[in-house]
Amino acid sequence: MGVAWARESIMPKVTAQGKTFECEMGANLRQVLLQQGVDLYNGQAAVINCHGIGTCGTCAVQIQGEVSEANWRDRTRRLLPPHSPTQDRRLACQTRVFGDVKVTKFDGFWGQGSQPVWAPEG
Ligand code: FES
Repeated sequence: MGVAWARESIMPKVTAQGKTFECEMGANLRQVLLQQGVDLYNGQAAVINCHGIGTCGTCAVQIQGEVSEANWRDRTRRLLPPHSPTQDRRLACQTRVFGDVKVTKFDGFWGQGSQPVWAPEG
C-alpha cells in the first residue's frame, strides 16, 4: 500500500483565472476548468468548439506544472496555423493533470495570441 496509496490520494491544485481548486490525479484539464466555471474559450469559441475531440484547437492554454506529455492530437493540431509548434501552448482537452498547475489563456479565437486574457491569479 504505502507509496501507491499516498500517490493516489494526492489531489493536484489547479490555479486559473483567479481560482484555485483541486482535481483528481490524471483529470482532464478541459473538463476541470469548465466544471469550475473558468472561461476556457475566447468569445464565440465557447459555442463553436469540438467539445474536447482535439480538432478545433480553441482550448489552447499555457500551462506551468506537471501534466501529461503532449499526445499526437495535441501536437498535430498545434502544427496547424494559427497555432505554431514553437509556441508554449497545450490543448487543455488533450492534457491530464499530474501535479499542481497554473494556467494562462491568451487572446485570439484559438487562444493563439500573445496577450493574456486571464492569468493564473486572475
Ligand atoms: S476543445 Fe477542440 S481542440 Fe480542445
